[in-house]
Amino acid sequence: MKKLVLLVSTVAALTAGAVAAQADETNPAIVHRQAIYKIVSGHMQSLKAGLLLKGPVDNLAWNAEGIVDAFKHMGAAYPEGSDKGETKAKANIWTEQAKFQEAGKKAFGAAVTLAEATKAGDQAKSVDAFKALGGACKACHEDFRKD
Ligand code: HEC
Repeated sequence: MKKLVLLVSTVAALTAGAVAAQADETNPAIVHRQAIYKIVSGHMQSLKAGLLLKGPVDNLAWNAEGIVDAFKHMGAAYPEGSDKGETKAKANIWTEQAKFQEAGKKAFGAAVTLAEATKAGDQAKSVDAFKALGGACKACHEDFRKD
């Protein structure tokens, strides 16, 4: 019994350590937006498997709608002061707000188009929309994200 207790507490300590290592950043805006981008990125990888690698993926519409939904949950992702910390956000996000918001709207629109195409089961349109969305991510990263 003693051994089991020891094992359990060791596992708990290891888990706490792993969580702490990932959670160096404490600015909630930064942690939240990076988490949402990771979710979006996961959906993009899954879509790539189905659309570009032609794998037997049956959740394309779920992935595409997941991206639309995730973008909706970005909230106020870049409040004042969230340029400080473990972030790759470039300073011009705050000085070129209109341009930044335009880039966001473009990506959102592309995600909606992709969601419609995958829902309709239109493979060719879905591939085109996927590429357009990828281009919109890249365009914003080039202008507003540090390498
Ligand atoms: C309007 C601009 C914009 C759009 C559109 C955008 N991103 Fe980003 N993305 C950023 C910025 C800025 C960061 C850096 C955030 C930070 O470090 O605080 C980022 C960070 C990321 C990260 C890194 C997250 C982490 O772990 O730190 C990933 C992955 C990512 N984006 C994927 C995507 C994908 C995939 C798309 C398109 C479906 C996309 N982004 C669309 C601006 C954008």
